[in-house]
Formats: sequence, structure tokens, C-alpha cells
Amino acid sequence: MWRGLGRPESPKIAAVLIAGNWKMFKGAHEARSFTTRIRNLPVRTPGVDVVVCPAFAALQGALEGLGSDSAVRVYAQSVHWEIEGAYTGEVSAPMLLELGASGAIVGHSERRQLFGETDDTVRRRAECALEAGLAVIACVGETETEREAGKTEGVLARQVSFVPAHEHLVLAYEPVWAIGTGKTAGPDVAQETHAYIRSLHPAPILYGGSVKPENAAALLAQPDVDGALVGGASLDPASFEAVCLVAAEIVAA
Ligand code: 13P
Repeated sequence: MWRGLGRPESPKIAAVLIAGNWKMFKGAHEARSFTTRIRNLPVRTPGVDVVVCPAFAALQGALEGLGSDSAVRVYAQSVHWEIEGAYTGEVSAPMLLELGASGAIVGHSERRQLFGETDDTVRRRAECALEAGLAVIACVGETETEREAGKTEGVLARQVSFVPAHEHLVLAYEPVWAIGTGKTAGPDVAQETHAYIRSLHPAPILYGGSVKPENAAALLAQPDVDGALVGGASLDPASFEAVCLVAAEIVAA
């Protein structure tokens, strides 16, 4: 169990991190009503750091719904590796900080597979974000073909070697074959893979890939699973709340 995100102003507590990755779902209006509903959720989930990751266009809406005193934090789904410049379509860390976002995901497999993200651009995005003061969730994970070919450890070792170590960085292990497929790495596979990643990098490690209220307890109970990056099940407030409540039970156990 890790010891929280260690925001400078707050004492570190034993914690798990539950982050909802909304991908390209929810515009500003829907984001605002979702976060209005969950703004007090952390009061019911002690020891759980609750994060939502809306699309850039919905960040402001999500932050408005939370108001000024919610412990729920808002992360972007990516961030550029320069502070500013001629980079059409990109968003920089200072822009996110100015809005009130606290962090960003980098290296999600959808960005790696569909948008040309490389290990090196993941590293550059992470380094720039951390230096600017954002927290980072850096994603790693093998494809089904790589797992079947026995290449999982090699792929993870390469991806993780590009991720900087920093007190505000967490890793997310997201096996590509488990994303949006309904297939999860079983708790044993998740534990074994997290333990391997743990041997390579000091950061807390979230599991991602078809996490739902029904399977969250078994995954989060594994000693090297420090939280979850939730896709589909984070889109519905009731199921996102349910995952966070399960996490709180694990912390309290
Ligand atoms: P699902 O939970 O929908 O499988 O998505 C996982 C994911 O990609 C989170 O980043």
C-alpha cells in the first residue's frame, strides 16, 4: 500500500488512487453535472484519492461542478512536452494548471496505438508536466500478441525505463487486451505483473482494464495494486462511486 499522492499541503495518508478516464466521452455540461454529484464522495471514501480525467474541452465544466472545496481532483488525458509553442492541437502544462487541473495521464495505449505516441514522447510529456507542477499517471501495458509471444516483461521493462521517478508520478499498468474488452487480467496476473513493474520502478502502480464494481475488490486487495484507472465504469456516476466505495473498504480492512 502506498502513502498517497503527497500533495505538499496535505499530510500523507495511506491511500489508494481511483481515477476515472472519461476518454472522448462527456462534454462540459455532462462533466459539470457528474462532478456536482460526486463532489462530496471523498467524505465517504477515506483513504481514497478520487480523480476524474475529462477531455480537454470538459475540464472547466468538471472543475466548476466540484467547486472550490472538493477533494476530488481533475486530470487531463494528455499534456504537451513544451510550455508553449507552435504545436497546433496541443495543450501545455501551464494551461492546465491555470484552469485548476492537478495532473495529466500520459502514454495511454490509445495514444500510443492511434496517435503515434512513443516511449520518448511519453517521457518528455511526463518530465515537462512534473516540472511544471502537475501530477502524472504514466500508462504502460503489453498487447495480446506481445503477451502470447512471451514478451510482456520485455515490453514493460522498455516502457517503464522511459518513465521518470518522481513523488507525484504514478504508473498505470493497462494490458491492452483488457481495455474495453470486458477481459480483465485476473487478480493473480495483475499481482504478478505489478510485482514485476515494482521491481523496476518505485512509483505506486494502478491497474486498468475493464475494472468494474464487481471485480474491483479482488484487484485492489492485491499487495502491489495501489489503485485503479477506470474507463467504461467511470462514465456512470453510480458505478464510479461504487468502485471508490469498494476501494475505501479495502483501505479500511
Ligand atoms: P476500460 O475500463 O473501459 O477497460 O478502460 C480502461 C482504460 O483504458 C482506462 O484508462
